[in-house]
Amino acid sequence: MPTYTEPMLKEGSLKGRTILVTGGGSGLGKSMSKYFLQLGANVIICSRKLEKINKAVEELHAETGGNITGYACDVRNYEEVENVIKQGVEKYGEINGLVNNAAGNFISPTERLSHRAFDTVVDIVLKGSYNCSLALGKYWIEKNIKASVLSIVTTYAWVGSGYVVPSACAKAGVLAMTKSLAVEWGKYGLRFNAVAPGPFPTKGAWDRLFPKEFMDALDINNKIPVGRVGEHQELANLAAYLMSDYSAYINGDVITIDGGEWMQNGGEFTWVGNMIPKEMWDMVEASIKGKSKEKE
Ligand code: HXC
Ligand code: NAP
Repeated sequence: MPTYTEPMLKEGSLKGRTILVTGGGSGLGKSMSKYFLQLGANVIICSRKLEKINKAVEELHAETGGNITGYACDVRNYEEVENVIKQGVEKYGEINGLVNNAAGNFISPTERLSHRAFDTVVDIVLKGSYNCSLALGKYWIEKNIKASVLSIVTTYAWVGSGYVVPSACAKAGVLAMTKSLAVEWGKYGLRFNAVAPGPFPTKGAWDRLFPKEFMDALDINNKIPVGRVGEHQELANLAAYLMSDYSAYINGDVITIDGGEWMQNGGEFTWVGNMIPKEMWDMVEASIKGKSKEKE
């Protein structure tokens, strides 16, 4: 039986696409880039560390035989973003896809943060995403190119979260941008969607958000109703679908891929499952029924 660890879309599903994946040299960005290449897309990856990008380009090309190129670019800097677009267009003729994936984040009580630390995370995530969306949007509208934009947010973009407040502020902003531009630029044939992953093991996220001290004390699988963390291929499957024309009628949406985690942790009575042993429920039921017979 086919399953979630396997590629889902048919061969050639992204043929004719050239997709820029920010932060595509590691983690989820690299996994998505690999699948885009396998599906026939040209892929451009960029991030701050050129050595890492060059290594990823070499690896992904060797693994897939696909057309991939990479550039050093700090997405906080608009001119550097414009430069990547210019070079990418020169190489592939046009760009018609963007994945806003680059991010910065670390767990910390907010009162320990300097204003520079707050800026750093917000600038990478929010400014980086609007820089890329704006620069490519202007180019697409001018050249009359139809395109798809996917932003990688997370579930605390709508519920917020303590201890990662700059990231929560920035991801919420990216989600607002996604919904807003989906409406404003839909008329140009530009689609904007987001995915909101729960925990997917990557070195970048694990080093900064789930350090050993936490992992020793926490069974992360217990936080997730389906009892496991995400597999990169299942996220890549969803991302490829949203970048492809198969999702042409999906615009302005955010798709959660977290095994039900945010609802479990946001549910008012979720704690009951851990606090009340099964045997105690007869007693609880009798007590509640007894109370409802009492006169008010
Ligand atoms: C307090 C910290 C800190 C920490 C950095 N700073 N780490 N403050 N606690 N742990 C402060 C610094 O002291 C400095 O402030 C400011 O932040 C900038 O730090 P730099 O190291 O100079 O910045 P830079 O080299 O640009 O690195 C950016 C970074 C780093 C965000 C701090 O972690 C990084 O490069 N991250 C990129 C990859 C990443 O974060 N991946 C994870 C994404 S996972 P001062 O005042 O001293 O100058 C993700 C998942 C979400 O988003 C959902 C999971 C379920
Ligand atoms: P990651 O490997 O650390 O990816 C982040 C990437 O962003 C890195 O390749 C990094 O490369 C790049 N980057 C950072 N600052 C940049 C900048 N200023 N300009 C350009 N690129 C920059 O972590 P990941 O887990 O794969 O995260 C990928 C995305 O998924 C992020 O948006 C993250 O918020 C989201 N996400 C992850 C999880 C998870 O559990 N892993 C859950 C929910 C959402 P350089 O250091 O070379 O710049």
